[in-house]
Amino acid sequence: MEHIIIYGSRYGSTRRYAEKLSEQTGIPAISCKDAPALSDKKTIIYLGGLYAGGVLGLAKTLRSFSLQDGQKLILVTVGLADPNEPENRHNIRASLQRQLPTELLDRAKIFHLRGGINYETLSFGHRMVMKLLYQSLHRTPLEKQTAENRALIETYGKQVDFTDFRTLEPIIQEIQRGII
Ligand SMILES: Cc1cc2nc3c(=O)[nH]c(=O)nc-3n(C[C@H](O)[C@H](O)[C@H](O)COP(=O)(O)O)c2cc1C
Repeated sequence: MEHIIIYGSRYGSTRRYAEKLSEQTGIPAISCKDAPALSDKKTIIYLGGLYAGGVLGLAKTLRSFSLQDGQKLILVTVGLADPNEPENRHNIRASLQRQLPTELLDRAKIFHLRGGINYETLSFGHRMVMKLLYQSLHRTPLEKQTAENRALIETYGKQVDFTDFRTLEPIIQEIQRGII
């Protein structure tokens, strides 16, 4: 197994992206809970759901990992906030900087995808976190909110799914650039 897709997903949207990517590239996809040793992998593609800015499972999976010559690391975040908004991309990158050493981050190719949320299936703890966040935010007018908080307010209590497999295309191209 030369190449590997690893995913950190709590409610399934990141796993679905990872499985689609696997189907389209022939590269096996494995949950971060079962991640193998990475030192002999040529291409490592990590997809993780965003939770309060952090990428699920990322820091733990890449702990003590350093990129060797000939190895390629592709990082993909999956969140509710629209990654087409520069402000959101900026915030995600800032939080990636807190989770990974600069030398690793500088050499990684980074992509952002949009997932979804279904309040009916959220754990009690997550529902409470979102409730507290919503209560602290919703009194400020929408136009004064950050793009990320606006996404949270607009989708609060709902079931939304922004998953779009077509957004995997640039990632597939990046993977193929390394393999062919
Ligand atoms: C407690 C909690 C915190 C979240 N924090 C963020 C966040 O900081 N940024 C974001 O874009 N989305 C955030 N989300 C939305 C998730 O990233 C989104 O639901 C994603 O699709 C989850 O991936 P998964 O289904 O693979 O677990 C959060 C969701 C929950 C429940």
